[in-house]
Parts: sequence; C-alpha cells; structure tokens
Amino acid sequence: MTPTMQQGVLGAPLEQSPRAGDFAIVETARPACPEGGVLVQLSHVSMDPYVGARLRGRHMGEAAPEPMRDAIPGHGVGVVAESRCAIAEGTHVHLMGAGWRQYAPALEGEVRVIKPGALPPSVFLSALGMPGLTAWAGMTQLARVGAGDVVLVDAAAGAVGGAVGQIARARGAARVIGIAGGADKCALVRDTYGFDACIDYRADSWREALAAELAGGISVHFENVSSELLTLALTHMKPYGRAVLCGLAAHYQSDAPAPGIPFGLIIGKRASLHGLVVYDFYDRWDAFLAECQPLAQAGRLVIAEDVADGLAAAPETFERLMAGRNRGKALIAL
Ligand SMILES: NC(=O)c1ccc[n+]([C@@H]2O[C@H](COP(=O)([O-])OP(=O)(O)OC[C@H]3O[C@@H](n4cnc5c(N)ncnc54)[C@H](OP(=O)(O)O)[C@@H]3O)[C@@H](O)[C@H]2O)c1
Repeated sequence: MTPTMQQGVLGAPLEQSPRAGDFAIVETARPACPEGGVLVQLSHVSMDPYVGARLRGRHMGEAAPEPMRDAIPGHGVGVVAESRCAIAEGTHVHLMGAGWRQYAPALEGEVRVIKPGALPPSVFLSALGMPGLTAWAGMTQLARVGAGDVVLVDAAAGAVGGAVGQIARARGAARVIGIAGGADKCALVRDTYGFDACIDYRADSWREALAAELAGGISVHFENVSSELLTLALTHMKPYGRAVLCGLAAHYQSDAPAPGIPFGLIIGKRASLHGLVVYDFYDRWDAFLAECQPLAQAGRLVIAEDVADGLAAAPETFERLMAGRNRGKALIAL
C-alpha cells in the first residue's frame, strides 16, 4: 500500500486575504525520493507574510498554488528520511520548497545542510533562516550599520524586526529602538530582544513618546510596515541617514498602491533609501550564518516563536499572522 501523509491546501481560489476557513488539511500520497535527491521528514514549516499575497498569485510573479492539490508554500526544516544522493539519511536540512506537509522531496542542490548543535532546528526558519538573512542583509550589506548608529525598526517583535535590532547591536549600534503593536509585543522587544526602547503605536500619545525617545535623531531606519511609518521615521532622521525598505505589512491586504512619501523630506534629510529583496542575498547565506549562528548560540540573537502544533492548527495561526496578531516567528511544528 502507498504510504500517505497530511498536507495543507487551499479549498478554493482566493480573492481576499486568507482566513482559516480557506484551508483544508487532506490525506495524500507521500512523495517518492527523487533520483539525485532526498525525501525530507519535516519537523517545522515557516509561515511568512508574503505567502498571503502568494496565495492570491500576487508575489513576485509566482503562481498561486492549485486548490486541493498543491501544498501551501513555506520554507521548512527536517531530517533526511530517504536519500538517493550524497546527503546521508538522518542529516538535518533546510529547504525552501517544503510547504504545509509532512514529507517533501528535493534535489540535492535544493537543500542546505544545517548543523543545529544545541540550537532547536526551528531557529533555521527564524533568526538563522530567511527572516534573519533579510535583517542581516539590510543591516550589514545595505545600511552598513556600525558603531554609533541609532537604529529604528518597526514590526520589531517579528522575526525580521527583532533580528534587525539584535544584529545592529552586535555590529556596535549605540541605540536600538523598536515600534510594535501592543504592550506585550513591546515587552518582548525590550526584555527578550534587548532593545533600548520600544514604542507601542496602539497606546495614547505614542507619537510624542517616539519623538522623546528619538530626540537625538536616528541614523538608520528599517521599514517593515507602511509608507506612513517610513515618512514618520524620516522626519526623525539625521542628515545622510540610511533607510532600508523591506516590507509593507499594513498594505498587503489592499490592491491599492501604498501612499507615496514626500520627496522634499528625502532631499532635506539627504537620505539614502535602499529597497531590499532577500532573494538577492541567498548567495551570501554562508556569510550570514558565519556571523549570526555564533550570536544565536551565545543567546545574543533570539526570536520568540508563535507555533501551531500540527497542520490542523496551522490555518488559525496563519490567519493571526495575516492580521498581525502573531507574537514572534509564526511556525508549524509537525
Ligand atoms: N523584502 C524582502 O525580501 C522581505 C523578506 C522577508 C520579510 N519581508 C517583510 O518583512 C516584514 C516583517 O516580516 P516578518 O516575517 O518578521 O513578519 P512579522 O513582523 O512577524 O509580521 C508582520 C507584522 O507587521 C505588523 N503589521 C502592522 N500592520 C499590519 C497589518 N495591517 N496587517 C498585518 N501585519 C501588520 C504586525 O506587527 P505589529 O503588531 O508590531 O505592528 C505584524 O506582526 C513583512 O512586511 C515581510 O513581508 C520582506
């Protein structure tokens, strides 16, 4: 009898941002191990904000998954269950084409061997995965953060934002300030991620609190949420500051373009704006891990996990991620 596995799929094509009821968990045939590749038994699958747009066919030209057929996309980590290549069974690996399923096939060149040591393998989907690489690329390759910089980042409780602040700190930034939604997220940013301050934009008078915190001006800003917050950050920027434009989480549900930012403000601040697409930095993954894995091992790069326990819990966790109600890195544990 063919072995089977569970897989998470869309029930029907999506018009709107996905809700929990749009997903179905189905029983399907377990994939075979490909010639020249491996079959990975996944332990964790990542949930990322871009997947909301991808499910509607609106991310970087990538096709939406076929309802009731294709696994919902996501990076994953796991252990090689079968091998028809040089990677030994039992090896821990990371793969981009994992998806919401228990087993994923991949060619040898499509997996990265990871060496978790004492770290939980799920870290390779957050601080040491694509979100961490995004933060590292923005801080070290684009903004070139260094000693004396004052850094501001929003969505600071998330995997990207949390890693931005901690990598900036490790690179010698003088101060690291976050913006996040809610007292609980701000406590995480301050107490666990070690930021100097975190401003809760859901609190009264938060703009005044931010202005007081940034009285000396910022030299680096990392934008995850909206053009409105970017504009606000620019008003606090010192001359010749650098901003990294990474994400627009508040605009992903809308089909209208995000509002523009005032041209005169950019000129007046002599600001440099760097657009960031993490795909451009996949060839620097080894350099990123060489710098950041020791930080994670030393407890200096830590990201909280918001974990769905099993595929059945994944749709509800994904809906919370789409609404910005996740606390840290959204993951499925299998
Ligand atoms: N350019 C790239 O290559 C690249 C690569 C990876 C990630 N990204 C982007 O980086 C950003 C952070 O990614 P992440 O994985 O660490 O996600 P995340 O921060 O865990 O989740 C996004 C956060 O955005 C905030 N948010 C504000 N308004 C929102 C709204 N209307 N709907 C949903 N969320 C809202 C929420 O935090 P608060 O409650 O604190 O506001 C939410 O938790 C995202 O924009 C993502 O798309 C870009």
